[in-house]
Amino acid sequence: MSRLPTYLDRYPAKMVTRLSHELITKYAAQASRIFDPFCGSGSILAAARDSNIPCAGADINPYAILLSQVKLEGFNYNKAKQLCEQLVRLSLSCKLKLPIKWDNKRYWFTYTTLKKYEQIRYVFREHDLITTAEGRAILLAYALSVRRCSRADQRSPKPFISKQARATRAGKHFDPLTEIPQLLEQLSNLYGSPQDVKFDLYNGDIKSNDFLHSTIGSFSHIVTSPPYINAQDYFRNFKLELYLLEELLPFKVSKIHQNFIGTERGNLIAQVSEGALYDNLCRFPELKTVSERAPRLSEVVHRYFSDMDKCFEMFQSCIKPDGVLVIVCGDNLVAGEPIPTWAILNKMLEVRGFNLFDSYGDEIERRLLPPSRLGHKGLIKQEMVSAFRFSGSIVSS
Ligand SMILES: C[S@@+](CC[C@H](N)C(=O)[O-])C[C@H]1O[C@@H](n2cnc3c(N)ncnc32)[C@H](O)[C@@H]1O
Repeated sequence: MSRLPTYLDRYPAKMVTRLSHELITKYAAQASRIFDPFCGSGSILAAARDSNIPCAGADINPYAILLSQVKLEGFNYNKAKQLCEQLVRLSLSCKLKLPIKWDNKRYWFTYTTLKKYEQIRYVFREHDLITTAEGRAILLAYALSVRRCSRADQRSPKPFISKQARATRAGKHFDPLTEIPQLLEQLSNLYGSPQDVKFDLYNGDIKSNDFLHSTIGSFSHIVTSPPYINAQDYFRNFKLELYLLEELLPFKVSKIHQNFIGTERGNLIAQVSEGALYDNLCRFPELKTVSERAPRLSEVVHRYFSDMDKCFEMFQSCIKPDGVLVIVCGDNLVAGEPIPTWAILNKMLEVRGFNLFDSYGDEIERRLLPPSRLGHKGLIKQEMVSAFRFSGSIVSS
């Protein structure tokens, strides 16, 4: 339980294992089915699985869904190894390519690495790897190889090419056909053999109408940590993996890249109604100051709360009467103005019929972080855990 995250399960704003287990034990031990609508790397789902509770997760990031799936279901390493060896052989002799549709690809990869990746992509697509647990593990190993075989600085979770990376990696060839089998073996050490668990995963935008009217069923518990305002640029963090996964998994980069909640991308305010703008100003009058200081950032905040409200409408539609919602969220600092994000979200939830029955602060200091981050002086000192019971009766705001 206290294992430090490795390169294999690194994920921005990943929930520490201690906290995800604590939330399940404290609030959801009796749950019949748990939903994490922002499942990321799947830590909450894995904690539900460890307590034998059926669960479902959603995330807009296809990489997150792939990682969660391999983590939850495990795979048969011998079968996966055999399949991977066959795919490596085929890729080596393959004359055809599945091009990566990304103008910037030559900035990130050498000519030879790109050529290999495009051959691998062709072979992988032909084998429809997404349909078996072993195929999905190979796809995850492939996705994990991408950053390693790029020109990016290997120390940073965010992709960028530093001076040091230029100096130490220039002229070297990083071979995905060697990396993928090695990563597959490491994944098997981490996620072990096939697991018998009941879970469902959905890749999509939770605030969209597709989810509101979907048939994902109902849940006795929703346990989640929503995205922060403008804190993690999930698209930027994963762009290399996403462009290389496109066409191997059923998603399009162009459909998701502006739809991550908390994003600064795109036309932010176009999708926010007049009513929502007004509601946001009532909930958080300091937004006026933010808009004078930094108009674009105030749009980010407006869009964030409007998006989160759409998610809460979705939560109402899929939680059972008397169901429990647990969210973990902290504060933000935008244009020098502290935003009590968790308190605003709590108010929005109360209006939608979720009654707060417990809340406490989880100190960031209590978290087991990799050594390099232990001394970090982050702005966020704690996150609030808030637990609600759904009454079903909507309060007028
Ligand atoms: C704070 S992280 C969750 C981390 C997770 N609890 C873990 O332990 O890895 C928030 C997640 O919300 C996802 N997300 C952002 N916008 C979304 C949207 N519109 N629909 C669904 N998921 C979204 C991000 O991709 C990210 O994985």
